[in-house]
Amino acid sequence: MPRRRAPVVALVLAAGKGVRLRSKTIKLLHPVAGRPMISHLLDTAGALKPSKLLTVIGYQADRMREALGDQGGAYVLQKEQRGTGHAVLQAARLIDRKATLLILNGDLPTLRPATLRKLISRHRATESVLTLLSATIDDPTGYGRIVRDDRGGLERIVEHRDASAAQRKIREINVGIYCADPKVLLPVLRKLRPNNAQGEFYITDAVHQLLDRGARVTAVLHDDSEEILGVNTRQELTQSGATLYRRKAEALQDRGVTLLDPSRTWIDPRARVGPDSVIYPDVIVEGATVIGADCVIRPGCRIVNSRVGRGAEILDHTVVLKSVVGPGVKLGPFSHLRPGVVLERNSKVGNFVELKKTRLGPGSKANHLAYLGDATIGAKCNIGAGTITCNYDGTHKHPTVMGHGVFVGSDTQLVAPVRLGNRSYVGAGSTVTQDVPEAALAISRGRQRNIEGWVDKRNKRLSPKKKKKSAKKR
Ligand code: UD1
Ligand code: CA
Repeated sequence: MPRRRAPVVALVLAAGKGVRLRSKTIKLLHPVAGRPMISHLLDTAGALKPSKLLTVIGYQADRMREALGDQGGAYVLQKEQRGTGHAVLQAARLIDRKATLLILNGDLPTLRPATLRKLISRHRATESVLTLLSATIDDPTGYGRIVRDDRGGLERIVEHRDASAAQRKIREINVGIYCADPKVLLPVLRKLRPNNAQGEFYITDAVHQLLDRGARVTAVLHDDSEEILGVNTRQELTQSGATLYRRKAEALQDRGVTLLDPSRTWIDPRARVGPDSVIYPDVIVEGATVIGADCVIRPGCRIVNSRVGRGAEILDHTVVLKSVVGPGVKLGPFSHLRPGVVLERNSKVGNFVELKKTRLGPGSKANHLAYLGDATIGAKCNIGAGTITCNYDGTHKHPTVMGHGVFVGSDTQLVAPVRLGNRSYVGAGSTVTQDVPEAALAISRGRQRNIEGWVDKRNKRLSPKKKKKSAKKR
């Protein structure tokens, strides 16, 4: 009978500042593909369903807690950042000694769950007390190097700053992911000394300490160098984002989405897009946006935390924020949906129209140059060019409510609160301050007066000679 597997405790090291980004913001909260860098790693760790997830925080601990919330599991405070070995020890009292301890640097946003599974299974198969992931990369600058003896056996890890010129030529590096038997590792960490260039307690020193005691330590060589990129610089930040966006694009293409140029399309890894949708270049899809099947998203659109129904078409340079675009809707070009907009099926919103907290009923249209805020508009209404809701009186916001089949003539101001009944009609250029009953016409503009011959009379008055000349010419 196989022995019952030990539960996995995942411990994420996230207390460091990350000075190489030259930023006032902690490194791990810098966004990569739309989320804090560390969120990707926490997702990866979470995918293993560990029995416990612990996150060591320190630098800007409050901001980390606030930004990550439940995602970080239980938080452990490392008051002073005295190195990765010291960080692990801060969580010691929360680590079940019988568990398999998985330790992860927080700055590995492109790591995949399968790689962690591989590490854990090698750790168990080799019955090691410590198993770490290594990789061979072209430019190992900054990483800890894996030093091996003549027969290829693991000897120690030397940090870049402590490495000799010869050791710096080693291209096998320490990725920053470890699997360990906490019973053995934790006592060794307690005996670490900060005898190194940074004066820190290095988890990596546990390697030779354990080997010196005859314990088994294994380095598992991983050959995907893209996945093990530890983000320390702005260039690596960009690179890891590009990797995550590329993976997302590939996954969508596999599911039947057409991307005209994946390298110029940024779709949040959390977003979903249905088959036979076509996405043009320079489109940015953020958050948990859901785009249905058979949609077309033209160039330059940004869609954030929104839902787009089947068969909708969003034309060039449209911004959609926290809104719902119903099936068959035509939206844009140059439209702006601010949060809280619902465009019901087959409605149309066109050029230079801004909407906020507004519901546009099925088949209704606002095709040109309008602002509709805090409005509820029924089915099959037509909102003329230049219509605006005056929804704000300087202190409060007020609603505009329209029934079905309402026609609002161009250049109308709807001074809220105001209601327009079913099938009512507003003459162009009106300022509507009172409710309009069902099927009524509202018109509130100055009556037009034509003064015959006015232009000629005026010209005579101003410069009689000059005007006569030009009149002769004609
Ligand atoms: C570390 C490894 C190095 C490896 C590299 C991979 C050590 C000593 N070195 O170096 O061998 O090649 O990662 O990227 O471990 N942290 C804390 N508390 C601290 C210090 C760091 O929680 O006191 C956290 C950081 O927030 C970060 C992680 O530990 O998430 C690694 O720290 P970092 O400073 O990036 O280590 P490196 O110098 O890159
Ligand atoms: Ca690092």
